Amino acid sequence: MSIQRTFSIIKPDATARNLTGGINALIEAAGLRIVAQKRIWLTRVQAESFYGVHQARPFFADLVSFMISGPVVVQVLEGEDAIATYRKVMGATNPTDADAGTIRKEFAQSIEANSVHGSDAPETAAIEIPFFFSGCEIVG
Ligand code: CMP
Repeated sequence: MSIQRTFSIIKPDATARNLTGGINALIEAAGLRIVAQKRIWLTRVQAESFYGVHQARPFFADLVSFMISGPVVVQVLEGEDAIATYRKVMGATNPTDADAGTIRKEFAQSIEANSVHGSDAPETAAIEIPFFFSGCEIVG
């Protein structure tokens, strides 16, 4: 167990439904601290680059179109085992498989419009956090 940082996106389906505060409440209730946050509108180039690891997947084009369909809130979360803790708070990728009380069970609409993204490993967080934030924008 150690203090970690993870990267989070509140996706367009959630910002469209004014759910940023509701999602942040679940994040904070889980003991995670929001140490950086900004609301942005991704460009196609940014979304394609961010999700480049999924480039060969059949859902890639739809995923990119969805992620640029409206504003997102990008965040850095800090806390004890933040990566695993946030994945637990998010719930399963497909909201139909998500446990009660998780963000995706409470708020997500589909496997694509699933409200949030979180880093899946320390190596991923180490790439995703600096993709969006410089060091001086993260205040722990
Ligand atoms: P995310 O954690 O942002 O990482 C990749 C995203 O692809 C995932 O959440 C889903 O929202 C999205 N996605 C869309 N369709 C699928 C699918 N069939 N399987 C997995 N992920 C999918």
